[in-house]
Amino acid sequence: MGATGRLSIAGVDVLGLVGEVGTPVFVYDEEHIRRRCREARRAFGPRVAYASKAFMCKAMAALVHEEGCCIDVSTGGELAVALAAGVPGERLVMHGNNKSMEELEAARAAGVGRVVVDSFDEIDRLATLSQKLPHGRPAPKVWARVTPGVEAHTHEYVMTGQDDSKFGFGLASGAAEEALHRLRSEFAGVELVGLHVHIGSQIFALESFELALSVIAQFFERSGLEELCMGGGLGVPYVAGESAPSITEWAEAIKVAARRAGIAEKTVISAEPGRAIVARSAITCYTVGTVKELPGLRTYVSVDGGMSDNPRPVLYGSGYEAFLPRDVPAERPRVVTVVGKHCESGDVVVRDAHVPTDLCVGDVLATPVTGAYGHSMASNYNKVPRPPVVFVKDGSWRVVVRRETYEDLLALDA
Ligand code: LLP
Repeated sequence: MGATGRLSIAGVDVLGLVGEVGTPVFVYDEEHIRRRCREARRAFGPRVAYASKAFMCKAMAALVHEEGCCIDVSTGGELAVALAAGVPGERLVMHGNNKSMEELEAARAAGVGRVVVDSFDEIDRLATLSQKLPHGRPAPKVWARVTPGVEAHTHEYVMTGQDDSKFGFGLASGAAEEALHRLRSEFAGVELVGLHVHIGSQIFALESFELALSVIAQFFERSGLEELCMGGGLGVPYVAGESAPSITEWAEAIKVAARRAGIAEKTVISAEPGRAIVARSAITCYTVGTVKELPGLRTYVSVDGGMSDNPRPVLYGSGYEAFLPRDVPAERPRVVTVVGKHCESGDVVVRDAHVPTDLCVGDVLATPVTGAYGHSMASNYNKVPRPPVVFVKDGSWRVVVRRETYEDLLALDA
């Protein structure tokens, strides 16, 4: 915050930046991301990966690599961005519950460090691929993704560890056992080096991870494997009153639980946080276009973005705070509903936002904690161009993803 109560991030006056770049805009504090990456690397070691689905562009991939973390990519598209940023294939982990032959080929060509095998069909594809490729090339190192049958305390849509899941090989059903057997057959053409477990996202309760570990431990130890990735999923606070464990605390809890569950000391335990690295590093700035008071009902404050730059409220009912960068410490006694500009009543940015009394048309309004799953899940609904991404550091800023234009929107039309 600047001396006048105006918002400043890393020494940059945000309203000044907005004056040049326009709204909506995602503003990321670069040093914040770097600190989280360093924390993750310290906590889990050099195989820790940033889950790029949370937010990805070339600048982000380069930064994560510089800070010594691997990158989890879950599609050919994320893989392409990481490679375009100059990240060596060895530092990438390839995910996906339905990897195409082309994606597997691209991963192989890039020398991706770990491929996380998710289905029997994928094992068949990997075997076919290994026969197609010239002999003498090292077999890709793979992890088998195991579904431990654990229900994490989170939104149903982002729960992944339960038995009824499209991801991975079920432990209880025996599919995991069978997968290991097939991956070790001489025909598989891969080197099985570890297991992967991911139970969901936006999880505050460390017990959920501890439970997953205790469920997987015996199977892991019997497998004789040396690497165990516990996935991502650590939650972050979005609204006042919430709190979450730090990455360091998360890692500590996982390591303690691993020892307690009998997992050997020499095991390389890693993780792949996305949200915990990047969510809190960014805010979204919008401009207020209309203020509509419906007496006795509510006040609608419309901004120049909405579900196209942040679909999380619509998808998961997620809550956010809202404030005015022109007066950060202002009291926020007025309750309004911040909505977007899309043609749907559900297009809510913040339901029951607490804002200053004098909020008015033309104000820049900011929502914090929008660094994860905002830009990455953004769409062009209603042909709204996606906002730019600005990185701020040491008193200066740079556009790392430019604003889309109407020409961009037309670029694919025949
Ligand atoms: N690893 C795997 C295999 C994953 O599927 C995910 C997230 C992560 C790591 C990273 O999880 P994180 O640390 O970010 O929780 N769009 C939803 C979140 C979907 C998460 C999908 N998988 C949201 O906005 O809440």
